[in-house]
Amino acid sequence: MNKFIIDVCCGGRMFWFDKQNQNVEFCDNRKIEKHEFYPGRYFEVNPDTVCDFTDLPFKDGQFKLVVFDPPHLVQVGDKSWLSLKYGKLEKEWHTVIKKGFEECFRILDIYGVLIFKWSEVQIPLKEILSLCPVSPLFGNRSGRNNSTHWLCFMKFPDEVKGLD
Ligand SMILES: C[S@@+](CC[C@H](N)C(=O)[O-])C[C@H]1O[C@@H](n2cnc3c(N)ncnc32)[C@H](O)[C@@H]1O
Repeated sequence: MNKFIIDVCCGGRMFWFDKQNQNVEFCDNRKIEKHEFYPGRYFEVNPDTVCDFTDLPFKDGQFKLVVFDPPHLVQVGDKSWLSLKYGKLEKEWHTVIKKGFEECFRILDIYGVLIFKWSEVQIPLKEILSLCPVSPLFGNRSGRNNSTHWLCFMKFPDEVKGLD
């Protein structure tokens, strides 16, 4: 594969300017046919690779940029549009997010960048960062109530040991 960017849980690719960017490997554990979920509003999840971010089918150090925007809601109706768009965290979400971070850093090249997005509407960012093996470099808040965090990480050689 000749792609150096991966989005490990792309969903409907809402935040991508070019949703068909050929430099990006789009992944998700769901595939949802394009359908009208609300009059005039369409949604689909059509990953290049259907896979689980806790067990990614990619080589160590394969990507220069990893994008990780996991579901952030535990309490949400299974049939709600929020759940359709963002997915849902299950009871064992601590293990899932921790393994997700580990996999993101495993497939990231040395000096590669991880962009992580988190909406702290139900789970505080602090709790999520305690599951991450690397500290973020910087971040930014946006969205309603400033509750959406965008964080930037880099994989440094001296941190790789701790990721084994
Ligand atoms: C917050 S949404 C991503 C939204 C996306 N960034 C966008 O711009 O539209 C989270 C996505 O993670 C996916 N997901 C949930 N658990 C996953 C897992 N274990 N492995 C891969 N994808 C997962 C969901 O299916 C959902 O599409």
